[in-house]
Amino acid sequence: MSQLDAFSLAGRVALVPGGGGAIGSAMATALAGAGAKVTVVDRTQELADAVAERIRAAGGECLAIGADVLQESECERMVASTVEKFGRLDIIVNCVGGGAGKVLFDAQEYPRDAWDWIYELNVRSTLLATQAAVRAMIAGGHGGRVLNISSVRASLGINAGYSAYVAAKGAISSLTRQWATEWAKHGINVNAISPTFVDTPQVAMLLDDPAFKANVVARIPLGRVGGTGDLTGAAIFFCSDASTFVTGQILGIDGGLTATQ
Ligand SMILES: NC(=O)c1ccc[n+]([C@@H]2O[C@H](COP(=O)([O-])OP(=O)(O)OC[C@H]3O[C@@H](n4cnc5c(N)ncnc54)[C@H](OP(=O)(O)O)[C@@H]3O)[C@@H](O)[C@H]2O)c1
Repeated sequence: MSQLDAFSLAGRVALVPGGGGAIGSAMATALAGAGAKVTVVDRTQELADAVAERIRAAGGECLAIGADVLQESECERMVASTVEKFGRLDIIVNCVGGGAGKVLFDAQEYPRDAWDWIYELNVRSTLLATQAAVRAMIAGGHGGRVLNISSVRASLGINAGYSAYVAAKGAISSLTRQWATEWAKHGINVNAISPTFVDTPQVAMLLDDPAFKANVVARIPLGRVGGTGDLTGAAIFFCSDASTFVTGQILGIDGGLTATQ
């Protein structure tokens, strides 16, 4: 028996909506590497298949599903397929979201359609996927783990047209605390990670601007933006027995950015 056994996900089954994306694929791969059987869900079957193939090639067990998590029936299908394939569901890591850099508007002019799009992409996707997953966890009767992805933008303003995104991530952080409170009685722990900029295609259009990137990096004590690999250790912690008494927490993964504010 090693102290590291508490971090093992052997015998656990994890669902990763958005698992075909930059952060989601890193999360799915890390969970599989820690021993979990993983269902990778993304909008297209091809994207989910590509990640699943990499996980299988590394010796992991993986189911790939193409599904739109903004449709309740699709969320039901991804959960039912997971339980049918692996016999249970223990973990959901919500990785659908983002979009901030695509809809930058002054706060006083922020258009309603852009606002709704960001909210659907970030909040409704997390809500519908989590509701379906948690119903299965409650039915399974052995607790579970929900991990959301918030952002430092939930608590820090940024002078770059981010109104809808900061509000949506604020909602994710609030829901994390609310769900932790409501679902504790079912043995379901709910936490979130809160990254600063992570070097991914979603934010490339911002970080490709040297002046913008220099300004971001100058405010981060550790002197760089994040990489997807910076997020996975925390995910394994939050999804494993190492964090049994941790719920309702939002962990900044930001190189010290929020410590300076
Ligand atoms: N990157 C950062 O700097 C950063 C920082 C802090 C927090 N975050 C958060 O981290 C999360 C993941 O970001 P990321 O950079 O990995 O984004 P990403 O690469 O775009 O990954 C998201 C994935 O979800 C898919 N998706 C979107 N809507 C979907 C739907 N309705 N049903 C199924 N799949 C859907 C996307 O497919 P499509 O491409 O087809 O839409 C994409 O493959 C987001 O919540 C983001 O806000 C990111």
